[in-house]
Amino acid sequence: MTKRVLLIIAGGIAAYKSLDVIRRLREREIGVRCILTNAGSQFVTPLSVASLSGDKVFTELFSLTDEAEMGHIKLSRDADLVVVAPATADLLGKMANGLADDLATTALLATDKPVLIAPAMNPEMWAHPATKRNVEQLMRDGIHVVGPNEGEMACGEIGLGRMAEPDEIVQAICRHLQSSLGPLAGKRAIVTSGPTIEAIDPVRFLSNHSSGKQGHAVAEALHKAGVDVTLVSGPVREPAPNVDKVVEISSAVEMLQACEQALPVDIVVCVAAVADWRPADQQAQKLKKQAGEEPPSIRFVENPDILKTLAGLDSARPQLVIGFAAETENIEQNAERKLQTKGCDWVVANNVSAEQNTFGGVHNEVMLFRRGNRVEAWPKLTKQAVADQLVRRIAEHFDQRRDTDTAP
Ligand code: PMT
Repeated sequence: MTKRVLLIIAGGIAAYKSLDVIRRLREREIGVRCILTNAGSQFVTPLSVASLSGDKVFTELFSLTDEAEMGHIKLSRDADLVVVAPATADLLGKMANGLADDLATTALLATDKPVLIAPAMNPEMWAHPATKRNVEQLMRDGIHVVGPNEGEMACGEIGLGRMAEPDEIVQAICRHLQSSLGPLAGKRAIVTSGPTIEAIDPVRFLSNHSSGKQGHAVAEALHKAGVDVTLVSGPVREPAPNVDKVVEISSAVEMLQACEQALPVDIVVCVAAVADWRPADQQAQKLKKQAGEEPPSIRFVENPDILKTLAGLDSARPQLVIGFAAETENIEQNAERKLQTKGCDWVVANNVSAEQNTFGGVHNEVMLFRRGNRVEAWPKLTKQAVADQLVRRIAEHFDQRRDTDTAP
């Protein structure tokens, strides 16, 4: 999964070194998006920054085009790490005091990601009690600092204030990105979501009320935990979540094909409400209603069982196969039975009786059944919270496996 850095270039002579930082990050296949302050653009041009980063450079807080393409809040949260290099005395002062009067300071205040600063200024400015207070405050706020170093400054003075070298900054960035990798970093997963639709003729089909909310939430939560996620989704109105790949399908047969193409993976979570049957004969032309004739009867054939197929794979079986079970009665017995008959490792059972509003609703109340493990009943939660809790259980599972595998 590509890691991304938002690099803020403020106005200092050391800004030229930031171009090298961009180049080195790109060499390591780390995505770089840049904000150039007004003062920064006096030292390096937007064109050189854009050419090296391979992306648009953001400069103005109140630019209608910039906001339309990427709102400043999204800009501040899209990256895994925000880096300020060079971080000038002025910018440090604003950050320490929570000021937000331009795009850079607004993004810094709005971000929910770790921030790394590389201060650069004249030695007297660095030694000034005001700068010291600001840096201490920033460190208390959890901001990480690289440099400054001692050496000759552009103004000819010698002392502490030289921005850290590009290589040091890049190493600090890589260390932070490494530790920001989620608990399931490096794993791959398939998540199925939404309904399938099974055609009767070119205009009619059979389907169900699955909205994709639960499946999409599981896919996004796994992605946040560092998993490379392929989401295979039936037709839904739910916006596509932030995952690595989305494959849109219609029928159960297409869903199985898309899942098979995404193999091998470590984790499968089948949240989709797959139609158990499909019309045996899909009519090439629209069925006509003929006056006086009996309504047509539809003969069904069984659809492939995607969960069972993936759980039953010989060579490429994912290490953890999880199914969701939609039940309206005898939830525990039915979930236990599905655990056995489908051959999966875990079943997340939810009550889909009409009064629960599970299909399409925002909340879900589930029970987790794991082979050889005690059953967990979770309280009614948002589907997002169900997804987060499930991903925590998945991370614990892989942690335990790692401990067992490395035990003497
Ligand atoms: O999409 P939402 O509106 O957010 O609603 C979420 C949900 C209610 C659809 C979801 O939480 C849920 O319960 N999904 C499973 C629905 C279902 O098909 O349950 P089932 O008990 O019929 O099937 C059990 C498991 O077998 C499921 O993992 C299902 O994906 C899988 N299956 C079923 C049939 C089939 N032909 N192939 C399958 O893979």
